[in-house]
Amino acid sequence: MDNYVRIFDTTLRDGEQSPGATMTSAEKLEVARALARMGVDIIEAGFPAASPDDLEAVRRIAVEVGSATHAPNGSLPAICGLARANKNDIDKAWEAVRHAARPRIHTFLATSEIHMKYKLKMDREQVMERVAEMVAYARSLCADVEFSPEDAGRSDPEFLYVVLEEAIKAGASTLNIPDTVGYTTPDEFGALIAGIVKNTRGIEHCTVSVHCHDDLGLATANTLAGIAAGARQAEVTINGIGERAGNTSLEEVVMALHTRRPVFNLSTGIDTTHIMRVSRLVSNYTGIVVQPNKAIVGANAFAHEAGIHQDGMLKHQQTYEIMRPETVGVTQTRLVLGKHSGRHALKARLAELGYNLNEAELDKAFERFKNLADKKKTIADADLEALVSDELYQPREIFTLDGMQVACGTMGMPTATVRLRGPDGQMHIQAALGTGPVDAVYKAIDSIVLAPNTLLEFVIHAVTEGIDALGEVTVRIESKNGHHSLDAQTETQHARSYGGHGADTDIIVASAKAYLSALNKLLVAGGKYGDAEKPAEVAAMA
Ligand code: KIV
Ligand code: ZN
Repeated sequence: MDNYVRIFDTTLRDGEQSPGATMTSAEKLEVARALARMGVDIIEAGFPAASPDDLEAVRRIAVEVGSATHAPNGSLPAICGLARANKNDIDKAWEAVRHAARPRIHTFLATSEIHMKYKLKMDREQVMERVAEMVAYARSLCADVEFSPEDAGRSDPEFLYVVLEEAIKAGASTLNIPDTVGYTTPDEFGALIAGIVKNTRGIEHCTVSVHCHDDLGLATANTLAGIAAGARQAEVTINGIGERAGNTSLEEVVMALHTRRPVFNLSTGIDTTHIMRVSRLVSNYTGIVVQPNKAIVGANAFAHEAGIHQDGMLKHQQTYEIMRPETVGVTQTRLVLGKHSGRHALKARLAELGYNLNEAELDKAFERFKNLADKKKTIADADLEALVSDELYQPREIFTLDGMQVACGTMGMPTATVRLRGPDGQMHIQAALGTGPVDAVYKAIDSIVLAPNTLLEFVIHAVTEGIDALGEVTVRIESKNGHHSLDAQTETQHARSYGGHGADTDIIVASAKAYLSALNKLLVAGGKYGDAEKPAEVAAMA
């Protein structure tokens, strides 16, 4: 058994299919690029049978990320598509991934008694036959086939050994063991993997993989237990997003293996300094905010508030710090640039942060930087990152904010006037009353954009400390006209929701920008305005 753990990222499949995490196909492409640059081994780019849009998004990733070198070490990630164990799904998955240099089809069928009886209405014999037939069919199309016995965590291990043996005989080279409902404990899951490694004929020629969900908060612990028991592929998502309580988070597994190297004696191909940036990118695109105390990527993960801790840190950093923030790409520089800093200094600092902007992007970023520098004395790295995300990581703009005016306070009703530039290039002005300034602004925007929706989430936070801090707003909305997506596992349709983000020193302006960014995605998904394509220069960003 080698000592390399393959990182299989399923942010764009298990992560994206969780309610609320919808990304446009341009955003998925951007995330796939970032994952490739970070060094993930396999990108599960989606579930192509879910809809023609999903198929197209996976196909674009296969063409644009899977067939050109993006990773710093020159390696190319395999691009994987998920398929239920039927010919139609497998054909669609193959159609989408076949353009990649290293295509993979991942097919699955449930093996727990409860799933077989109630969901599949199949007995053990039928499941075994279907697995053998569909893995062989996938293998007839694609040299790299992964098979997952869904709900393995609650399946009879003896039955798993024979199902996996059938899959191996039919040509699967990766056997993924999912704890689909996050039910097992680390001891149990480790023992399950050890049993599979020991008792499944032919497994020594395959890679054993683990895929855990976090319903009991044990996903990372279970994944590490599975790795310790012999698994050499971990299926993970950025920020741990995914169905229900989410999946195992990439950053936790990678940093556990990295930080406790003497314990595990295992390595991954991940460049850990990319972790924070990719975390922010996924959070911005999905509108799913990272909890402040989240391990590795939470805002407080490296903050030391308690006096006794600060005192210890000053005496010796390692008293309270097991990882260096720089290792995961958290930059410590507080005072970076100010009002008098030039374009060159901005470009250089952004490059140090990993943003290599072209001239057009730099022009935009510099304009935003100068505006901010007029309002804020010092500009920290966090401000720069918020500005770049706000300016460059936006969906195609159908409506843009041209101006707004708000009156609020204790005397009279909050009132907002909003001026938007529409898709026709024309200006639209509307005023509205609301329960508060944000409500008034959103009502005015609604009366122009006319896209009925429900606001599911509104989160606001200050990027840095201080009264002049930049405010960052994240929203999530759901269309009332209902765009839906097929869930591979439950075979149900779930409503898509769209996230948006905006940053400004004026939090009401940031709120308006965030709402418009989500609305623009919703409008594009409605089909009237084409795909949420980004301008070419944004797609080309390093
Ligand atoms: O959780 C699960 O069982 C899955 C499979 C499709 C691998 O996501
Ligand atoms: Zn899953």
